[in-house]
Order: sequence, then C-alpha cells, then structure tokens
Amino acid sequence: MTQTAILGMGHYVPEKIVTNDDLSKLIETSDEWIQQRTGIKQRHYVDFEKEPMGASDLGAKAGAAALEEAGITKDDVDLIIYATLSPDKFFPGDGVLVQAKLDIPAGVPALDIRNQCSGFIYGLSIADAFIKCGTYKNILLIGSEVHSTGLEFETRGRDVTVIFGDGAAAAVLGPTQEEGKGLLSTTIHADGRFADELHCPYPGSKMMPRITEENIRNGDHYPQMNGRNVFKHAVSRMPEAIMEVLAANDLTPSDIDLLVPHQANLRISEMIQRRLELPPEKVMNNIQKYGNTTAASIPLALNQARQEGRAKPGDLICLAAFGAGFTWGAALIRL
Ligand code: UT7
Repeated sequence: MTQTAILGMGHYVPEKIVTNDDLSKLIETSDEWIQQRTGIKQRHYVDFEKEPMGASDLGAKAGAAALEEAGITKDDVDLIIYATLSPDKFFPGDGVLVQAKLDIPAGVPALDIRNQCSGFIYGLSIADAFIKCGTYKNILLIGSEVHSTGLEFETRGRDVTVIFGDGAAAAVLGPTQEEGKGLLSTTIHADGRFADELHCPYPGSKMMPRITEENIRNGDHYPQMNGRNVFKHAVSRMPEAIMEVLAANDLTPSDIDLLVPHQANLRISEMIQRRLELPPEKVMNNIQKYGNTTAASIPLALNQARQEGRAKPGDLICLAAFGAGFTWGAALIRL
C-alpha cells in the first residue's frame, strides 16, 4: 500500500536575532516576564532595512533546501502547498511566488492554505490524500512567516509582539511502499466560533475601503489575541488530537519517540507533556530560540530534531498543532 513519506526537509531563518532585552527597549516588557510566561529567549527577524524579505523569500529558501535534501530538482515537483498567515500580498498567494522564485515549471499547481499555526498539519493531510490517490508524486509543502513587519511595537500589543518570530521550513513528500513507514494518520479540526479570539481584522473585504487611516491609528491592522482563552483551548485540543491519531493506529503515548508540538508557548508544551505522561526529553522544544513561527513552527522544530539526531529513521514522531481559527490537528509519522 502506498504511504506518504518525508523525502527531505529544509529550513531558513533570517540572521538577525532579537533578544527579549532588545524588545524591552521598545516596549514595556522584560526578559524575566517573557521567559517565565513563554520560555522564549530570542527570535529571528528579517532585517527590513538591510534586506527586505517577504514570507515567500524565506519559504523559497527553505523549499530549495528541502528539494536538495530529497535529492530531487525543481522539475520533479508535482504540487506546491504553501501555508502562511503573513503572505507577501493580499493576492495572489505566496505559492505562486515561490514557484517563480524556485523556477518550478509553469503548469505545476500551487495551493495556498490559510490555517495559521495548524497550516503544516493541514498541508500534510492534503498532501497525503493526493499522494495516496496517486494524483501527485512529489509535493513541496512549505510553512513560512514574516511576522516582524506586522507586529505592534507599542506596549498595547506586547502580549502578541513578544511571542512571534520569522522563519520558514519545508518538506518534500512522496510515496513509499515501505511497510509501516511514512505518515500513519492525520487529523484536522476547526471551530470558527472562536475566529475573533486570535485574528488580524484589517485590511478586510468586509470594509470599504479595506483599511482606513483611523484603523491604522487604532492599530486594527495588528494581530489581536485573547491569550488566556487560546492557551486554555490549546492545552486540551492538542492532546485530544494526539490521542486521536494514536488510537487510529492502536498506539498509546508511550509508543511516541518524539512529540513535536507547535511552538506556541513552552508552558503549553510542558502541560501537554505532563498530560500525556511523556518524559520531557520526548518533547521537542525550540521556541526558546525562534519564538512562535506559526506555519513554520512544526517543520522547523521537526527538522532541527532530525538534524540533532533526536528524530531518526524508524522513530515514531507525533506532530500536533493549535492556532487561530481555532484550528488544530495532529499527525503520526514513522520516519
Ligand atoms: O500560536 C497561536 C496560538 N497562540 C498561543 O497559543 C498563545 C497562547 N497564550 C499565551 O501564550 C499567553 O496567554 C501569553 C504568553 C500570550 C500571555 O501570558 P498570560 O500569562 O496569559 O498573561 P496575560 O495575558 O493574562 O497577562 C498577565 C499580565 C497582564 O497585566 P495585568 O493585567 O495582570 O496587570 C498583562 O498586561 O501580564 C501583562 N503582559 C505583559 N507584561 C510584560 C502581557 N504581555 C506582557 C509582556 N510583558 N509582553
């Protein structure tokens, strides 16, 4: 039976590092508060003055690295799936921009998905369906974000500003016939009743004009979050989704070699680890270095785990996400 395997991965983060102390010079916050409440020590930002880059630029670099590791060329890509909440433009989506940047041949489809922190899991489940049906062979799945150009560097927006970072990561997915290898299950969910709990209201098609000077003065074009409620749902929805993919394979948390949760908050990851009764070393965390990179966060953490030997061929890896929408999901992979 055909299964979907990860054939290669790559990631890219901009060089510029912004520490908590750097932020505390701009807004009323402190290294102590940020580390205590989130675990974050630093994040990477695009150096906008030196080299402006959009999410598609980061995504293209991560995508190129993933193609190289997979040992395939741009001409072998059958479909691009691209996840972001920070696209370069209102339209077209970044998928086609990456296609042009990587010189992936004309005619190859590019699918943009808007599932925020769950984007990579949603993308995996779409890719899996296409691969299992035999519609496409090599799928380039990219998660990429440039948050830094859209954050409010004022005390008002500090809860959101301190958590986000820029970055991109990608995976090449393709079919394998190797028994027991590859994506075993994915599950994806949403509950739109909570759409306003974490959102960026402007610009929007519901308004004419789509954004006004007053909106900008009010900071309505910055992300807004009810952090406590997001936190509360994240710590129950992610374990639920994890249990769902495990149950679908007659497995339990103790079978997991490494859990790679969306890097939203170190406290969220630790609560999930305790709920599932996993030892801390079985949970991958890199939020300390990168902050929350939304659609890039899971593949960035997974690729780092692969590079450090914490996720090895044959290991059972569980991915879990929760984010704006609300959207959430999980995936189980035998590497
Ligand atoms: O990836 C998408 C999903 N996103 C998430 O999963 C985020 C989930 N939420 C969280 O991670 C947390 O809610 C935050 C880290 C965003 C906030 O932490 P919290 O412990 O929930 O803090 P809070 O919002 O309840 O605020 C506590 C206090 C408030 O002050 P008062 O009202 O108690 O005087 C805030 O004004 O902390 C204040 N505060 C800050 N202080 C210093 C909020 N942000 C900051 C800050 N620096 N950056």
